Amino acid sequence: MTLTADDIEFETRTGEIKLHGAADFEGMRKAGRLAAECLDMLIPHVQPGVMTSHLDNLARDFIVERGALPACLFYKGYTHTVCISRNHVVCHGIPGDWALREGDIVNIDVTVIVDGWHGDTSRMYGVGKVPARARRLVDITYKGLELGLAAIKPGATFGDIGHAIQKYVESQRASVVRDFCGHGVGKVFHDSPNVLHFGRPGSGPVLQPGMFFTVEPMVNLGKPHVKVLNDGWTAVTRDKSLSAQCEHSIGVTENGIEIFTASPTGLFQPPLQAD
Ligand code: MF3
Ligand code: CO
Ligand code: CO
Repeated sequence: MTLTADDIEFETRTGEIKLHGAADFEGMRKAGRLAAECLDMLIPHVQPGVMTSHLDNLARDFIVERGALPACLFYKGYTHTVCISRNHVVCHGIPGDWALREGDIVNIDVTVIVDGWHGDTSRMYGVGKVPARARRLVDITYKGLELGLAAIKPGATFGDIGHAIQKYVESQRASVVRDFCGHGVGKVFHDSPNVLHFGRPGSGPVLQPGMFFTVEPMVNLGKPHVKVLNDGWTAVTRDKSLSAQCEHSIGVTENGIEIFTASPTGLFQPPLQAD
């Protein structure tokens, strides 16, 4: 089936941090689950020699066949379903006529729309056997996300999330990218607030039950600086160091969080094959 820009409606952000109720949690649960299932579906297809355009097609068909919409397609002129960011690509890598190579680490980021709700998640995949330094970076990135998520509870602040991530990542002699952040999510794809992956404890808005947002740290082995290539999308590390990212969409509950985009397989960090 061919989708056009007219098939997708965009709500815009208002600047307020929305508080959601039980029915909204149910909406996000469905969207998040489908997004996670899409990333699960791709696992066996991430192999040396596979064209990234093929992975994009698989993701699009998977989503559309289930009656959902790919949120990135036609979003701000983007013409693909997923972003595929390899090695020193930080985020927003464009799938196309290029193949995966043995030893690559790639982030695949997908956002689906189910009944108007956006499920936004990304993971790291290893292509064949992956060198130790790349595996170490991926471990640091998942641990950073895990610690950021663990900081979320009513009464804590957005700064506490960023601080938890930054403190750990920098203790591992890696760096947190500053130029991209997480975001409120729900009926709006990129809603308020910006969710920074660095910060001071106690700074920023106070977390309240019913807030929906993503946490999606990008971690570099070298310096945090990035540049965007001439295609207008692909962000790469300035120093060409390896970069990794992982993302969940979550809701704040009375005593912590619900991870909407958790894999139904129960796996938080997919294993990479050692070289
Ligand atoms: N899914 C990305 C995020 O985490 C956004 C990608 S926008 C696109 O916010 F247009 F590049 F797809
Ligand atoms: Co996101
Ligand atoms: Co995303």
